[in-house]
Amino acid sequence: MKILKTRREVNNTLRNKLLNNASLGFVPTMGALHSGHLTLIKRAIDENDLSICSIFVNPTQFNNKQDLEKYPRTIEKDIELLESINCDYLFLPTVEEMYPQGEENIQFDFGNLEKVMEGKDRPGHFQGVGIIVKKLFEIIQPSRAYFGKKDYQQLLIIKSLTKQYQLSPQIVACDIIRESDGLAISSRNQRLTIEQRKQAPAIYKALQEAQKLSTTMEIEDLKNLVATKINSNPTMTLGYFQISNKENLQPINHWLSKGQQMGFIVVNMGDVRLIDNIEL
Ligand code: PAF
Repeated sequence: MKILKTRREVNNTLRNKLLNNASLGFVPTMGALHSGHLTLIKRAIDENDLSICSIFVNPTQFNNKQDLEKYPRTIEKDIELLESINCDYLFLPTVEEMYPQGEENIQFDFGNLEKVMEGKDRPGHFQGVGIIVKKLFEIIQPSRAYFGKKDYQQLLIIKSLTKQYQLSPQIVACDIIRESDGLAISSRNQRLTIEQRKQAPAIYKALQEAQKLSTTMEIEDLKNLVATKINSNPTMTLGYFQISNKENLQPINHWLSKGQQMGFIVVNMGDVRLIDNIEL
């Protein structure tokens, strides 16, 4: 695997390789790679002539300085993992490379998509995601970019960004990867205590129950039921459980047709914030 650290290196290396319409599959990450990331990267490898992953802990998407400082950095292990699955390129830029001094950041308009759930709870987060993903797409110019549905709101924000700025890649949405007990895979899972980790599958169980009951219960009652289930577990506090139109993420009060809405959940376990979702 070749490691590219600057825009110029990406340009010099990739533009020649991509003559003759070769396709390039891209997976942007902030490192601390786990099996969820590796599933996306393997798909990028399988579906394209060349594959590239980026690792960049993006300061502008953290609204809390401590979270940025605490973010796990495991670059040597990450490189080993990428090499083990034969990823072709790693883009590993510095903060100075991505945010040159004096450059002004764009303000994006993501409309109501940004005003709910993670956008509401983490002000500025999706602006930061938009800034970095736009830069990465412009530097790398991939044919396809792969994102997990666990961060479903991020996926819709990136689709909107790509459309608004006519950026190159087709956005490929990939299913949530789960541990065998149902917990959605996330780098945050490593921060759970043994007891919290034991209890954490209750989040997906609550979502599955909501899915089962969605045909027979009113939305408000179902939301209350999930809230009671989560909050009765002493290791958990519900951040939110929202049932929303899956196209625009606006909360709904009445059921739409089957598969048109999703349940979105955030659960705090100590200082670890876990998110998950399910189609209803
Ligand atoms: O999902 C992530 O890891 C990040 O938000 C992303 C898309 C790599 C942008 O920094």
